[in-house]
Amino acid sequence: MKKVYIETMGCQMNKSDAERMFGMLEYLGYTKTENPKEADMLIINTCSIRKLSEDKAYSQIGVWGKWRGKIKGKYNSYPKIVFAGCVAQQVGENIFRRAPYVDLVLGTQRLYELPDLVKRIEAGERVVSCGETPYEEKKIKINRVKGINAWIPIMEGCNNFCTYCIVPYTRGRERSRKPELIIGEAKKALAEGFKEITLLGQNVDSFGKDLEDGQNLAWLLRELNSLEGKFRIRFVTNYPTDITDELIDTVLELDKVCEYFHIPMQSGDDTVLKKMNRRYDYATYKKICDHLRSRVKDVTITSDFIAGFPGETEEQFENTLKAMTELELDYSNTAAYSPRERTVAAKWTDLYIPEDVKTERLARLNEHNRECCLKSNKKYVGREMEVLVENFEVRKNGDKVITGRTRNNKIVHIPCERDLTGEFINVKITRARTWYLNGEII
Ligand code: SAH
Ligand code: SF4
Ligand code: F3S
Repeated sequence: MKKVYIETMGCQMNKSDAERMFGMLEYLGYTKTENPKEADMLIINTCSIRKLSEDKAYSQIGVWGKWRGKIKGKYNSYPKIVFAGCVAQQVGENIFRRAPYVDLVLGTQRLYELPDLVKRIEAGERVVSCGETPYEEKKIKINRVKGINAWIPIMEGCNNFCTYCIVPYTRGRERSRKPELIIGEAKKALAEGFKEITLLGQNVDSFGKDLEDGQNLAWLLRELNSLEGKFRIRFVTNYPTDITDELIDTVLELDKVCEYFHIPMQSGDDTVLKKMNRRYDYATYKKICDHLRSRVKDVTITSDFIAGFPGETEEQFENTLKAMTELELDYSNTAAYSPRERTVAAKWTDLYIPEDVKTERLARLNEHNRECCLKSNKKYVGREMEVLVENFEVRKNGDKVITGRTRNNKIVHIPCERDLTGEFINVKITRARTWYLNGEII
């Protein structure tokens, strides 16, 4: 049996891609290993969202290159090294200048070509496949990470071209996956015992735009909701102005679809939003948020923010802090602006914010985020909520604890003698912490 090790960086889409790669490689006789040192094939599944993640990919590949060593000036032919994911799509064959020992450069849009390409590198070829025309998808086996949640991509790509973001260049234009593939994967995951399905896409609201009339996200949710059994359905990420009333109605109407929206705002300042090429201003985002909160009881709204976008003034940054507080956002991912090759904002070098100012703003953003999270969590103390258990652990002090999530995506720790992983239980929330809740079984 040949062994393959995959190191995955970046978002859930990359994690899902890795599960697909494992599945395809099983057909070729590979098994998964957690130990890179015993692998016959090493795959790095890279993320390009910020310079730091790109640099991490290069340093990891450098380490693997050393393992492979040289014989008489030539690199050994094992282990095979595959450079995949968003950085691969972005740099293509240029990776050879830095890492001549790479056997295969696999772009994000060529994932399903993997079995053919692996056969070629096994025969000694060096291959680059990073085209911008997506390779046709085949029905494949997916080797999912064990747990209760199954990721299912429903669309890929982005047409928005926010001025800071590399994703439209790494994931290409928006395209929907075939509904029958998605529904088939969901059925299979449920039959395997998964209790939650999370639909993935850079902009899930765009699902169906290239399909038959009537096939949109709300339609897909209805189809999935009608599958048998008790399970939950989630979806990420929404673009603020693309959330429709039909979608909100579906969330209200369907018992399995959870009350959780991830809606990145990026900045709370109108001038910055315009420069980012986001298609809304603060008032519009607020209206969307207020509308959601008024219609969907206990809805959790999370967001993403960037600190130190080129030209951002102190006052503009403070508008972001104000927005976070005013909208009572439940949680936000935060990052300091990182210039990305090919993007529009990267060219505004004269407007770059100094590193120390970015770092300081990021720290304040994080502090605000902590306050917002704690405030949000406090809303639920004393309440009874349904928790889907994800994990059981015996702590060093002997305490036995189960951890799970509420429908609205709050993490809850609960003392419990037994491993209830995969079960739905009713819990009373006893205490709010910054990042999680404590509860007890009722
Ligand atoms: N499609 C989603 C976001 C995908 S990228 C959306 O539109 O909201 C995930 C997050 O990474 C973004 O929301 C943004 O906050 C962050 N990000 C993207 N490019 C970045 C950059 N150049 N520097 C810092 N953060 C960035
Ligand atoms: Fe990037 Fe903007 Fe597309 Fe999100 S919507 S992936 S931030 S370009
Ligand atoms: Fe990173 Fe690509 Fe996801 S750039 S965030 S792995 S889409």
